[in-house]
Amino acid sequence: MTTIGIIGAGNIGKNVAKAAIAKGYDVVISNSRGPETLGGVIDELGAKATASTAHGAAQAGDFVVVAVPLKNYFEVPVEPLAGKLVIDANNYYFERDGHIEALDNNQTTTAQMLQEHLPESHVVKAFNNIKANDIPADGTVAGSDNRRALPIAGNDADSKARVIALLDEFGFDGVDVGPLEDSWRVERDRPAYVVRSNADELRDRVAEAVR
Ligand SMILES: NC(=O)c1ccc[n+]([C@@H]2O[C@H](COP(=O)([O-])OP(=O)(O)OC[C@H]3O[C@@H](n4cnc5c(N)ncnc54)[C@H](OP(=O)(O)O)[C@@H]3O)[C@@H](O)[C@H]2O)c1
Repeated sequence: MTTIGIIGAGNIGKNVAKAAIAKGYDVVISNSRGPETLGGVIDELGAKATASTAHGAAQAGDFVVVAVPLKNYFEVPVEPLAGKLVIDANNYYFERDGHIEALDNNQTTTAQMLQEHLPESHVVKAFNNIKANDIPADGTVAGSDNRRALPIAGNDADSKARVIALLDEFGFDGVDVGPLEDSWRVERDRPAYVVRSNADELRDRVAEAVR
């Protein structure tokens, strides 16, 4: 059985875990304070969830979801994620994260920052464009009318295909918006951001984005 490592046990981490467990995955989930503080989360998620450290979740995961406040991204362990697919759900909120000049100046994207931090990993942006509670709730079967679509971005074709397959399992159409440098198109304040869209609507909203 595939194990998903999850770094960050807040809104996004817990809801990705719920969706994954519903599809039969095992999850190893972590926060910043240690597994002993995750008893309530494990009670909520059930027997297919295990609490660990960020290092332990990174090591245990066949692939790993990073869902921490952006200001903490550089704490994500590097070595155990080498060679792995890493799904980046993070968004930039300067009110929470402090101002990051390179983002304010449009010189990089949040996903490129994580990729630079994890040079040997295959970072794919996903789950940043949906409210956390909707992840286990909004999925529908493939081909259903007006199925919700979620954007992904990445530099590695195989990794992107894996994430699109995962989204499909969770009940969403994955729409590839390009390499990590284009992921700004689906971030905060862009037309597609957290707006429920089907695949055609999402492509239109992504195309409308102005930096
Ligand atoms: N909430 C949403 O609907 C939503 C939607 C899309 C994207 N996002 C983005 O997803 C990210 C997470 O958002 P969230 O709402 O889930 O945040 P949250 O509820 O505040 O949870 C953040 C989690 O990250 C953990 N964390 C912080 N530093 C860590 C570290 N070094 N190692 C391991 N875990 C660490 C925290 O652990 P402690 O509590 O122990 O510090 C906490 O469990 C953010 O970038 C956010 O912008 C959120």
